[in-house]
Amino acid sequence: MRVPMSGITLYVFDAYGTLFDLKAIIEKSRETLGERADPLLDLWRQKQLEYSWLRSLMGRHSDFWHVTGESLDYALKALSIDDAGLRAQLMEAYLCPAPFPEVKPTLDALKAAGHKLAILSNGSPSMLTSATKAAGLDALFDAVLSVESVGIYKPHPTTYRLVTDHFDCMPANVAFVSSNGWDAAGASAFGFQVIWVNRAGRPRDVLPAAPHIELPSLSVLPELLEV
Ligand code: LAC
Repeated sequence: MRVPMSGITLYVFDAYGTLFDLKAIIEKSRETLGERADPLLDLWRQKQLEYSWLRSLMGRHSDFWHVTGESLDYALKALSIDDAGLRAQLMEAYLCPAPFPEVKPTLDALKAAGHKLAILSNGSPSMLTSATKAAGLDALFDAVLSVESVGIYKPHPTTYRLVTDHFDCMPANVAFVSSNGWDAAGASAFGFQVIWVNRAGRPRDVLPAAPHIELPSLSVLPELLEV
C-alpha cells in the first residue's frame, strides 16, 4: 500500500515522545521513586508542555532546558519530593533519552532510500545534540532544528517555518512526523503533510487541523511508503 502522500522531499521528526522514549528517562530513578515514578513523569511532561505554551503566550521565552527544570520542580513539589540528588539525576537523564527501538531501523531505511531527514524540536540545541549523539542518530540527519532560534515554542507557525526556510521548500513537500497530537495539528495547520504516531492510542485532538495519516508506531513507515 502506498500512502496518499505525494511530492515529499523531506521527513521531519519531532524529538521527545516521537524519536525518544520519555519513559526511559525515569528508569534510573524508578527504584528511588517507587510508585511515584509514573505519576511524576506524567506531571513533569504535562507541566513542561504547559509552561512552554504559557511562556509563548506571555512573551517570556526561556529555553527548553530551563523549562524542563522548572516543570520538574513543580512536579517534585506536587508529589512532596525534596531530593536534590534525584532532581540532578532526572535532568541528567533528559540529556541522553533512549530512542524507541524502531527509530534507528526506520531512519536507516528512509535514509537508504535517499530521503532527507531532519528534526524540529522544542528542545534546546545542546539538549538535541546530546540526545542524538547518545542515541547514535546524529549522522542520519541533514538538519537538527531547534525552536530556540525563533524564541517561541511549537505549535506557533514561526517554528514550522524554520523547516521550509532551512530547506527552501514548500510546506506540502514536507512529511512531518510527531507522536504529539497538538504538534501534529500545528504542523498540519502550517501545511505540512502530517503523520501522527499515536503510540498511546489517544483520540484525535479536536483542533482546527488534523494529521493526514495515523500510525501505531514508526516501524510501519518505510513499508507504507514502499521506500
Ligand atoms: C519536542 C517535544 C515538545 O518538540 O516533543 O521535541
